[in-house]
Amino acid sequence: MQAAHHHRLRLGAFCMLAAGMALRSEAPPPLSPSCPHSCVCDMTTWRVNCSYGGLSTVPETLPSDTTTQLNLSHNAIRILVPQRFRSLTRLIDLDLSDNLLAYIQVDAFLGLRSLVNLCLARNLLKILPVGAFSGLSELQLLDVSSNELLGFLDFTFRGVARLRVIQALQNDLVFISRQAFAGLISLRQLYLDACNVTSVPTEALTHVVGLTSLYLQRFDSSSLPGHAFIGLARLKQLVVTDWPRLEALSANSLVGLNLTSLTIRKCNLSTVPYVPLHHLVYLVHLDLSYNPITYIQANQLGELPRLQELHLVGGRLLHIELMAFARLTHLNLLNVSGNLLSTLQEGVFHSAHALQNLGLDANPLSCDCRLLWLVRRRSSLSFGGHAPMCSSALHSWGWRNFLECAKAEALLTCRPPRIKRHQLQQVRADQGHTVLFYCSAEGDPAPSVTWLSPQRRAFGEVGRIRALANGSLEVRFAQPQDSGTYCCVASNVAGNDTWPVTLHVRGFSSSPNPFHLKSWLAFPSTSPGDASGSQELPIDVKTVLIAASIGLLSFFGSVSLCFIFMFLWYKGKGQRKHTATIAYVPRSAVVRRDGSAGNYMDTSKFTMKLM
Ligand SMILES: *[C@@H]1O[C@H](CO)[C@@H](O)[C@H](O)[C@H]1NC(C)=O
Ligand SMILES: *[C@@H]1O[C@H](CO)[C@@H](O)[C@H](O)[C@H]1NC(C)=O
Ligand SMILES: *[C@@H]1O[C@H](CO)[C@@H](O)[C@H](O)[C@H]1NC(C)=O
Ligand SMILES: *[C@@H]1O[C@H](CO)[C@@H](O)[C@H](O)[C@H]1NC(C)=O
Ligand SMILES: *[C@@H]1O[C@H](CO)[C@@H](O)[C@H](O)[C@H]1NC(C)=O
Ligand SMILES: *[C@@H]1O[C@H](CO)[C@@H](O)[C@H](O)[C@H]1NC(C)=O
Ligand SMILES: *[C@@H]1O[C@H](CO)[C@@H](O)[C@H](O)[C@H]1NC(C)=O
Repeated sequence: MQAAHHHRLRLGAFCMLAAGMALRSEAPPPLSPSCPHSCVCDMTTWRVNCSYGGLSTVPETLPSDTTTQLNLSHNAIRILVPQRFRSLTRLIDLDLSDNLLAYIQVDAFLGLRSLVNLCLARNLLKILPVGAFSGLSELQLLDVSSNELLGFLDFTFRGVARLRVIQALQNDLVFISRQAFAGLISLRQLYLDACNVTSVPTEALTHVVGLTSLYLQRFDSSSLPGHAFIGLARLKQLVVTDWPRLEALSANSLVGLNLTSLTIRKCNLSTVPYVPLHHLVYLVHLDLSYNPITYIQANQLGELPRLQELHLVGGRLLHIELMAFARLTHLNLLNVSGNLLSTLQEGVFHSAHALQNLGLDANPLSCDCRLLWLVRRRSSLSFGGHAPMCSSALHSWGWRNFLECAKAEALLTCRPPRIKRHQLQQVRADQGHTVLFYCSAEGDPAPSVTWLSPQRRAFGEVGRIRALANGSLEVRFAQPQDSGTYCCVASNVAGNDTWPVTLHVRGFSSSPNPFHLKSWLAFPSTSPGDASGSQELPIDVKTVLIAASIGLLSFFGSVSLCFIFMFLWYKGKGQRKHTATIAYVPRSAVVRRDGSAGNYMDTSKFTMKLM
């Protein structure tokens, strides 16, 4: 992009050169007798300026063949007839920009055997006929930008073997023939603008093996196919810009390239194309600005060890993960201005000390201790003239430019997370039911909540047991083997808080006996394996219990015996009908944070309630 810009400047400078010289010469230029009316001929420097001369054709009488520069810009020339310039064998620069040229005839430039620069910008050219450039054996720079070119025909450039730069931006190319660039063995830079071309002209490009810069603007394609640039082994700079539909790069789209600079700007990429990039080990400059990219993931760019600049301006970045730039030891410029970042932590960098330029303005930054490192490094960082600002005032004085606030170090603070202790710590459920564990935490910055399984693995957002976006853990179709201690972990940059919750799931089908007495006595079990193992209920425990009840028989005793049998009967029924409700610990239960075994009173109370 930058190079292209420079290039355009250079080209403009060239187009204006004659004028500049004319203006600077102090004495009025000597008029040659053969100097055409409406031109200014400076025969000491061999420059002829016919700019703004009101010409509708190239003048009949052109000055002597020693002329090196001819400026015909800003006229109304419509057509170039064959061999009109034949006498100008020493001409080096020819500027025909800003005319009304719609057509160039074959052999129009024949005879210009010294011509190096040819500027045809801002005309009405629709096609460049084969043979239009014949005889231009020294031509190095051709500018046909801002025309109405529809395409490039096969062999258009035959015979211009020294051509180094083709500037063809601001055209509406529809086609690029397979042999369009045949013979351009010296071409180094190619600037194409092809709003109606739907794919990279891979085959045409195989003819320009010496290309070092390729600039492709406004293609109408939704992806870069595999091997799109195969054969361009010397390419150093690739710019893909203004492809509004480009959503993806196939994994091997950049295969065969050894780039130092890659720009994919103003496209529709929603992720950083890590895989297509990862063989570009010489990449120094990467620009993915103005793409709807939301995340930069951890440890994905580490294969670009020489990367020095990363530009991702005007995207939709919400988050840059810690370690995102791990192993990028040379990264000295990061420009993420104009995104949706709430912070940028020091831990995203391999070493923040290599960083010299940081664009972070125009992001909704929350000013807390995560930005302290910026305050400490503010004197050695350049912010490109736009300092980062807090999204809300840092203090009642209304400071948003925290880098200029003398007390910033004291004001940028964080609060470690605290889980709100509402959730009960022991939860019982029947097999097949759904259990929700709540966990909400406060802190500054807002903590993230994760749930760990009894095996200390974090749950994702999918699956039978999943972590919900609001911090809850959902266990669907609870199984006995789900029993165990789950842990809610809330963490932010200032610390962690944890809250263990023990789940016990009663399996009906695994045990024929409704009492599950032993498992209740053993509750809470710390490992789900133990819990299911304890489901085997020895029948004699029950017998002993009943016997004991009978042993205490009294008038009331016989009534309680009745209840016990009713209980058994109901439980049996319940098992068949599955009508038991969610088995939370009743509200009266004593909750102990240390997770020690619940007392038997609680459990028996609970059992009665469940029935
Ligand atoms: C050439 O002549 C025109 C008209 O006289 C003048 O405006 C212009 O500055 C000169 N320079 C160039 C580049 O031709
Ligand atoms: C190019 O595409 C645009 C729409 O994308 C259309 O308006 C225009 O007519 C097309 N030009 C040509 C020459 O097909
Ligand atoms: C860009 O991509 C999004 C989806 O990723 C799509 O909805 C949108 O239409 C695309 N824009 C263009 C111009 O193709
Ligand atoms: C890739 O490019 C770098 C520098 O641009 C060069 O040093 C290296 O030799 C190139 N590698 C290959 C395989 O061409
Ligand atoms: C980042 O990019 C923006 C927009 O191109 C520019 O204005 C700003 O100066 C850049 N910042 C840095 C630090 O390069
Ligand atoms: C979390 O979301 C689930 C399902 O969307 C809902 O049932 C539950 O009540 C929510 N929890 C809180 C604390 O809002
Ligand atoms: C938070 O927990 C992580 C591991 O889960 C640990 O590495 C880190 O040191 C903890 N942070 C604090 C402040 O306790």
